[in-house]
Amino acid sequence: MITGRTVVAGVAGRPVGHSLSPILHNAWLAAAGIDAVYVAFPLEGDGFEAFAHALRGGVVRGLNVTLPFKARALAVADQASDLARRSGAANVLTFEPDGRILAHNTDGIGLLRAFQRQAPAWDAAAGSVAVLGAGGAARGAVAALLGAGTPRVWVVNRTLARAEAIAQALGPQVQALPLGRAGEALADATAVINATSAGLAGQGGLPVSLDATPAGCVIMDMVYQPLDTAFLRQARALGRSTVDGLEMLIGQAVPAYEAFFGAPPPAGVDVRALALAALAGDRG
Ligand code: ATR
Repeated sequence: MITGRTVVAGVAGRPVGHSLSPILHNAWLAAAGIDAVYVAFPLEGDGFEAFAHALRGGVVRGLNVTLPFKARALAVADQASDLARRSGAANVLTFEPDGRILAHNTDGIGLLRAFQRQAPAWDAAAGSVAVLGAGGAARGAVAALLGAGTPRVWVVNRTLARAEAIAQALGPQVQALPLGRAGEALADATAVINATSAGLAGQGGLPVSLDATPAGCVIMDMVYQPLDTAFLRQARALGRSTVDGLEMLIGQAVPAYEAFFGAPPPAGVDVRALALAALAGDRG
């Protein structure tokens, strides 16, 4: 029931109509019996900053921010977490009662949580990791891996200069390679993470062979529409274990929920099943 005291949080993006975040957060809120609601804010045009400033003071408790506003979310904040700054992006804003906007990045936490759940034996600190792509998603992954102790991260990208920019920004443990030399990064990787948009429904897929990966290497794809990407199918055909983008989405929502509502999500809600049902509905 919506009351006069209902707390509001939500997700801002363009487009945002197919976001799974309202499904996850509202299922948790209902199970926890919290008087709050989580809605989608479709921001057309160029009004992101005006919208964010209008929420100062806590009209809305907090926002998830998704494409294309994550870098602008970091810029609009008065204070940012270390991980948000190093990622160059924020996917969570909270609106403090004193008027400040705080920026966080929980995407990298979501990535690590997804590995914990679907590849629990994998150890971030055990060896090098190859990240494919050099956009915002890739940079966030690199920042999170370094934070988790990964000794070397390869950033492999079609446009080498963008990979070099991430290496420049995040330090000497990060090395850039062009896509054509991906095999060099894959040969001793403990994990390979697709952070490119290739593989999204309607895109062509990523022209990278996983043949060079060692047997124990874990293959992760951030894309979850479709959930079963050609990249993950290639990994399974080689006998590699896999981690999917939906688990990362759920993994980032957990600390976001806690930032908005002050407690971790209640246990026992199968939000993955709810999200899978929504994805299946979108296809139908
Ligand atoms: P985001 O911020 O979500 O990561 P982005 O900045 O648009 O999005 O980055 C998309 C990434 O996918 C880039 O690394 C892009 O490579 P380029 O930097 O060379 O453009 C990569 N990408 C997209 N389509 C690709 C394709 N068909 N093959 C290889 N890489 C692709």
